[in-house]
Amino acid sequence: KNISIIGVPMDLGQMRRGVDMGPSAIRYAGVVERLERLHYDIDDLGDIEITRPKRGAIVGEENLKNLRDVSEASEKLAAKVDEVIKNGRFPLVLGGDHSIALGSLAGIAKHYQNLGVIWYDAHGDLNTAETSPSGNIHGMPLAASLGIGHKALTHIAGYSPKIKPENIVIIGARALDDGEKELIKEIGIKVYTMHEIDRLGMATVMEETIAYLKERTDGVHLSLDLDGLDPHDAPGVGTPVLGGISYRESHLAMEMLEEAKIITSAEFVEVNPILDDKNKTASVAVALMGSLFGEKLL
Ligand code: ARG
Ligand code: MN
Ligand code: MN
Ligand code: MN
Repeated sequence: KNISIIGVPMDLGQMRRGVDMGPSAIRYAGVVERLERLHYDIDDLGDIEITRPKRGAIVGEENLKNLRDVSEASEKLAAKVDEVIKNGRFPLVLGGDHSIALGSLAGIAKHYQNLGVIWYDAHGDLNTAETSPSGNIHGMPLAASLGIGHKALTHIAGYSPKIKPENIVIIGARALDDGEKELIKEIGIKVYTMHEIDRLGMATVMEETIAYLKERTDGVHLSLDLDGLDPHDAPGVGTPVLGGISYRESHLAMEMLEEAKIITSAEFVEVNPILDDKNKTASVAVALMGSLFGEKLL
């Protein structure tokens, strides 16, 4: 099996600097070596080039900060991911803030009739300029990929929508904005909040998620925001929320996905080494990738 790694040093989707160093932090945590040990052919394609934020100026419009630069970077990432899939390889995207999912999904979804998405996150990232409390585009990529929002975000790679609401499962939600809650109910997205994870346990949540996606999708993208984990286990994130998924539960989730063999692409996002504790969060990301790609405890 072959994996191509794409780094996306993107920090324009939110206001805290440092998340652009996420791909380097994850590489320092040993991602290539870890996956090579599992006998994959790993090709690290390096980083996508991202425009640096202009000094002092947040150029945006209508509550969409850095709209043009985020859109431009997403086009570049989409083209790169598309190329990786055309070459028959598994795209593993390293962020960068979660706005990069716009580009990942744009490059991936055209290869599937019914792409499934697991959105592992404290947040829904289902905002639009109208509902966003912050204007930060990293809170919008799931909505935009559903075709909801500004055209510069919904039409990356020239088509829309990328995904259907019934093919999405959100896991770990605990900080949804009012507009996001309304949208979830209106269009019908399956969500396991922390309440369901506490009540059912992660094993049941993953069994249900896998069964649900297996019967309706022909590929599944894992979009894992490190803030889905509890900040105790993953402190190096820009928008931490207490009461998250534990390190062990996350490993179990990855192991169950590996056993089910349903994941066809993945991204690990929001690793911010400046906010981190000795690169702990990047190390957690790499450990979870180990489980996702087949590391066994025994
Ligand atoms: N819901 C908040 C917003 O839209 C926070 C989003 C956080 N997103 C993330 N990918 N960390 O501003
Ligand atoms: Mn998040
Ligand atoms: Mn997110
Ligand atoms: Mn601690």
